[in-house]
Amino acid sequence: MAMTAALPGVYESYWMASAAYPSRPPLDQDTEADVAVVGAGIAGLCTAWELARKGRSVVVLEASRVAAGVTGHTTAKLTALHTLMYDRLRHTRGPDAARLYARSQSDAIEHAVAVADELGADCDLERVPAFTYCQDPKQLDAIRAEADAAHKAGLEASFVTETGLPYPVAGAVRVENQAQFHPRKYLLALERDLEAHGGRIYEGTRVLSLDEGAPCVLGTESGAKVTAWDVVVATHYPVFDRALLFGRLSAHRDLVVAGPLAPERDPGGMYITQEENTRSVRTAPYGDGQRLLIVTGELARPGTGDTDQRFRSLADWTQERFPGVEITHRWAAQDSDPTDTVALVGPLHPGAAHVYVATGFGGWGMSGGIMAGRLLADLVTGERPPWAGLYDPRRMLSLLREAPAFVRHQLETGRHFIGDRLRAVSVQSVDDIAPGSGAVVQHGGRRSAVYRDEDGALHAVSARCTHLGCIVGFNSAERSWDCPCHGSRFSVDGEVLEGPANRPLGKRDV
Ligand SMILES: Cc1cc2nc3c(=O)[nH]c(=O)nc-3n(C[C@H](O)[C@H](O)[C@H](O)COP(=O)(O)OP(=O)(O)OC[C@H]3O[C@@H](n4cnc5c(N)ncnc54)[C@H](O)[C@@H]3O)c2cc1C
Ligand code: FES
Repeated sequence: MAMTAALPGVYESYWMASAAYPSRPPLDQDTEADVAVVGAGIAGLCTAWELARKGRSVVVLEASRVAAGVTGHTTAKLTALHTLMYDRLRHTRGPDAARLYARSQSDAIEHAVAVADELGADCDLERVPAFTYCQDPKQLDAIRAEADAAHKAGLEASFVTETGLPYPVAGAVRVENQAQFHPRKYLLALERDLEAHGGRIYEGTRVLSLDEGAPCVLGTESGAKVTAWDVVVATHYPVFDRALLFGRLSAHRDLVVAGPLAPERDPGGMYITQEENTRSVRTAPYGDGQRLLIVTGELARPGTGDTDQRFRSLADWTQERFPGVEITHRWAAQDSDPTDTVALVGPLHPGAAHVYVATGFGGWGMSGGIMAGRLLADLVTGERPPWAGLYDPRRMLSLLREAPAFVRHQLETGRHFIGDRLRAVSVQSVDDIAPGSGAVVQHGGRRSAVYRDEDGALHAVSARCTHLGCIVGFNSAERSWDCPCHGSRFSVDGEVLEGPANRPLGKRDV
């Protein structure tokens, strides 16, 4: 693999770089609580905070750092306009479902605004309109239908042809009074308040086992156990998947580039289009009166395609549309799409009495994570908001609404599970691997994932993902091994970066 020219900007999420958190110690002895929350992203932290506010004793177990997973690498638009959601929803689950969706997501946004105000959270929260637009006139019917459906679902939505973007659009759905914020600054305020209400947070604490019972018992990497009456699995892709939710979730990895923009060039809103493999645009306060332009897009299955090239495409697109912007940051993250497009929030499986899950936010887990926190806290304390059924993960697989996406996902996963095994390896010998690159090689009858670092040293691990055994692919831009089947990611030395895999790739000698 040849080395290519450097990518624009530093590989660092702006949210991570601009809000440092004091670290919390790992759990090193057995403990108990009313509720244990596994995962401290927006979904887990919001759930823990809501429960602590309802008087429950809560323990949060985080494998890595608080708000450093997808939540630390998002774009952080807080909107109920989820690209093209409402027209599809009214046709697949009916107009009431579309109304409940709009209500639940809008409730989450207003809740975040009220909580930020109450806690005095300095989280760069701004009220702005949200747009889903198209440039291709052939897409206008879909945009008009979405404007109509979103309006009928209760949002302040309209069809417009003018936006604040510096390039023309054919048409757009515009929804008033949405919001954008700094997710880590918001969650830092929640974290402080959670601890003030007796909540305990342990970082560097990976949960490896779950015994469902009354009470439940969680086992962690250090051997320490947590006993809790209720457990919330908020690990993004669920690490305990007793309802085989992975069959209904397909992961996509998105790229982000960002750079300073003069305030007078701010497009004054949050924008998204599905065209050109998705482009999302927003700005955030930055430095001395500047704005930071944040552009997201170039969706792909983890472990597939040329990530370097995708970063370059996104940077080129940004600089063509916003001439003169210098890219200072780039980062990437992934989310999972549920086959029927609605997040899965509620009991983990049909027999679950005390274990809950929040997953499948489909790229909209900011309002979705806040909504999940409120919904799960209600369920744990015996309340049931009107939208509980809409998000219930136990909902039946519907032939009408899910079959095509479900079949597509299974075919694509099967293609990787079988096809990647049969495919010839890309290099015959580790000698062919250039410094800074990686490749899957056949060695001793087994496939190994081999990375050669910049100093020439080899790092070799098993190429079989520890989730369900698919073959990982090298992600050149992020120096990681990514699994195309359900999106697990591993460092070049095999440590788990993202689930659903919960165990590292085994070391190999090559
Ligand atoms: C590029 C990009 C842009 C996006 N933009 C937007 C947007 O503008 N608006 C919007 O609404 N949504 C957006 N989203 C979606 C949103 O960011 C996500 O849906 C949301 O952050 C998911 O939050 P989470 O809490 O489920 O996951 P995470 O933030 O990933 O949290 C899960 C946590 O669980 C931990 N964990 C995993 N396994 C274990 C274990 N075994 N034990 C203990 N802890 C564990 C992880 O370390 C992690 O910290 C975007 C997504 C992407 C990828
Ligand atoms: S993530 Fe499921 S097999 Fe790799």
